[in-house]
Amino acid sequence: MPAVVIDGKAISQKIREDVQRRTTILKEKSITPCLAVILAGEDPASISYVTAKEKALTEAGMTGRNIHLPADTAETKLLNLIAELNKDTSVHGILVQLPLPRHINEDKVITAIDPAKDVDGFHPVSVGNMVLGRPGFLPCTPHGVLVLLREIKHPLSGAHAVVVGRSNIVGKPLANLLTRRDVNATVTVCHTGTKDLVRHTLEADILIAAAGKPALITPEMVKPGAAVIDVGVNRVPDSSAKNGYRLCGDVENAVAEKAGYITPVPGGVGPMTIAMLMQNVVQAAEESKV
Ligand code: GUN
Repeated sequence: MPAVVIDGKAISQKIREDVQRRTTILKEKSITPCLAVILAGEDPASISYVTAKEKALTEAGMTGRNIHLPADTAETKLLNLIAELNKDTSVHGILVQLPLPRHINEDKVITAIDPAKDVDGFHPVSVGNMVLGRPGFLPCTPHGVLVLLREIKHPLSGAHAVVVGRSNIVGKPLANLLTRRDVNATVTVCHTGTKDLVRHTLEADILIAAAGKPALITPEMVKPGAAVIDVGVNRVPDSSAKNGYRLCGDVENAVAEKAGYITPVPGGVGPMTIAMLMQNVVQAAEESKV
């Protein structure tokens, strides 16, 4: 039997409706949640992500302060801008779209953001809070994956989750969230240094592909009935597409014949990331001292 396709769009919609409701309550108290979105350079994928985030903010009734900087912006200029936004009480969240141009130190930039406005959950303080299970902003994509898994009621406690990829944005935080007591999965993290990847993936009740490699996961690598979550968003050249490329995940389409659940690309994890970001922005505004 082919896999149940997890409708990330529909699940994210419910979250966004709740965000909208919370935004309305804040606006009645004259607080309009505001996210400053900083993009440096012209990376086409980053432009499309930022545009989607700005659209979601408007739909939720929130404000987006969109700051598009040239690719050759000096690091000090970006750091000064963040210092200004940290002080600005009308700004509740600050998001710097990654990757940054090569001459800018990402670590320095992320660390410059006030943790109270770190709606991406990338600041070392946010990461520390997450690891310790303290309140704070959770990173949007890993949190979105967790919400998807809960929504389909896939058994998590005692399940073996295999995360393929160890990025700071997805793999590392997701592995951490899955081992929380209230989730209780056993986690294996695979990466480019892993020997015999298939041996590990075949053991997965939950397989999360977050390596950024098109079609890395093939049907032979999947345990029958597993929940397969595809975090990959890869642009592959396609002369038949009007923009010259198509989006493809890290998971081959044929995996749907073997898995129990699968997320589509697009329409799976992507919309969840945006919904969780909106949730963090409204939370930042609720917690702001005005
Ligand atoms: N680049 C890819 N994903 C993300 C994300 O979730 N946040 C930011 N700021 N940049 C990204």
